[in-house]
Amino acid sequence: MSQEIHSQYDSILILDFGSQYSHLITRRCRELNVYCEMLPCTQKMADLPWKPKGIILSGSPYSVYDDVAPRVDPAVFEMGVPVLGICYGLQEIAWNHGGSVDPHDSREYGHATLDLTHTGNVMCDALFAGLGENVTVWMSHGDQLSKLPEDFEVVAKTSTAPFAGIAHKSRPLYGIQFHPEVTHTDCGKALFENFVDRICHCKRNWTMETFIEKEIQRIRDIVGPRGRVIGAVSGGVDSSVAAKLMTEAIGDRFHAVMVDNGVLRMDEAKQVREMLGEHLGVNLTVVDASDLFLDRLKDVEDPERKRKIIGNTFIEVFEKEGERLEKQAEEQEAKALAEGHPASETMGKYEFLLQGTLYPDVIESISFKGPSATIKTHHNVGGLLEDMKLKLIEPLRELFKDEVRELGKLMGIPEHLVMRHPFPGPGLAIRILGPVTRSQVQLLQKADKIYIEEIFKAGIYNQISQAFAVLLPVRAVGVQGDKRTYDQVICLRAAQTTDFMTATWYPFDHGVLSRISNRITNEVQGVNRVVLDVSSKPPATIEWL
Ligand code: XMP
Repeated sequence: MSQEIHSQYDSILILDFGSQYSHLITRRCRELNVYCEMLPCTQKMADLPWKPKGIILSGSPYSVYDDVAPRVDPAVFEMGVPVLGICYGLQEIAWNHGGSVDPHDSREYGHATLDLTHTGNVMCDALFAGLGENVTVWMSHGDQLSKLPEDFEVVAKTSTAPFAGIAHKSRPLYGIQFHPEVTHTDCGKALFENFVDRICHCKRNWTMETFIEKEIQRIRDIVGPRGRVIGAVSGGVDSSVAAKLMTEAIGDRFHAVMVDNGVLRMDEAKQVREMLGEHLGVNLTVVDASDLFLDRLKDVEDPERKRKIIGNTFIEVFEKEGERLEKQAEEQEAKALAEGHPASETMGKYEFLLQGTLYPDVIESISFKGPSATIKTHHNVGGLLEDMKLKLIEPLRELFKDEVRELGKLMGIPEHLVMRHPFPGPGLAIRILGPVTRSQVQLLQKADKIYIEEIFKAGIYNQISQAFAVLLPVRAVGVQGDKRTYDQVICLRAAQTTDFMTATWYPFDHGVLSRISNRITNEVQGVNRVVLDVSSKPPATIEWL
């Protein structure tokens, strides 16, 4: 993460031991307007280039008795900053201070009520200050503490966990057996607030307003007074917000490229041109490469081949456009110099590639995967960087999706765009289950447009995480007017999810479904049947291919 961030915001360091909830700790701190960053638990404190105001040790799927159990750098406890250990993190604190942990064969999983002990020691009681009595917490653990380390006090217990909360008598070290980061723990927010405020004394200045200002300055410092940046936009939230931010920072020295791959939603390229190019003032070129893409997709049914063809063709088209813009930039510079403008007033070369990477991608690449797993490096730009010799610039890499949406709204991007459902890179090609042809794309575009329109009209768009129509590779018999038809089938998919890793299907009202079905079969020629996908993920996935 950028060094500048740490000079501008007080930060909490989260050391990840591989718990499924670790990223939620990050979310909870950010919600309190405190900047925080997650690193694997193997991070050596001597190598940390910034000093956190506090450290949180996450839970873990490991038992401290496993041979390969991850261990925290003991220097964590010598830095003079407060430490909060959650579940396995509590056990790490205990182990490092002479306590003992008992292995349990079965996990304790579910709600529990905390009994706070109120020791009378202000430092010990700080974590639970003002929480009231009988707070409900969420337990999910195997091992638990059996002997309190020296100089620690019990600050909370439950009927099954005598050491549900512990605190050092004179140093700001705290451990809790339960999970305050999950919403099932009532007092979670108040507990984190106590930690970051009362215990770590963090400035709570991480807001999107301050982020915009600081990020614009950071981009200007990186790109310099003449440098240029190129970036792909798709019409999605992340690339639109990143493009708008770049434009605010360096104006026309940022050039956005949208590749029309022929498998976009209806009128998408036109809408992006109007919204980003005209309304939001982004310097944008739309390249219509739909013939090339559709030609290469002809007769291809295998989803992975579709993805590969689209990915590779995208790189090819984008690079070609990059070369064209580079040539144009050289000509502009030569012309300006010939006209007598000093070099300092001309625009330079394209040196950077804008990427709309978000924090969950970064977390995914750095989170702790266990001692035997290699840490995956984050790289989702295919071959672009090597071939184009560009440096990566990622202004959103510290942000979660909801923060990006807030940022977008603050910069004047309309609500309907910032709240837009995600759309996959391979587009409608993975929603047409058979071969992709222009006429099949047009048919699906029409059905999808009606579906989304009706969802908007019903006022339920923001309750659904992702809705789209799928064109099934079957024909069915129907009767329309007096005629028998043998036509195609559209499937409606609507998923509700928070992380896209698991999902449930959206429970539509019958009236809405009936309107969607009537309109599709009446208005989309070639479709005589509409079906609804009622599968969760797992066992299904959100997309069909
Ligand atoms: P699945 O189908 O895996 O989808 O449950 C989870 C999320 O990922 C999106 N998705 C993709 N996005 N390229 C993308 O850019 C792809 O090949 C791709 N496949 C799935 C999907 O739309 C959903 O949001």
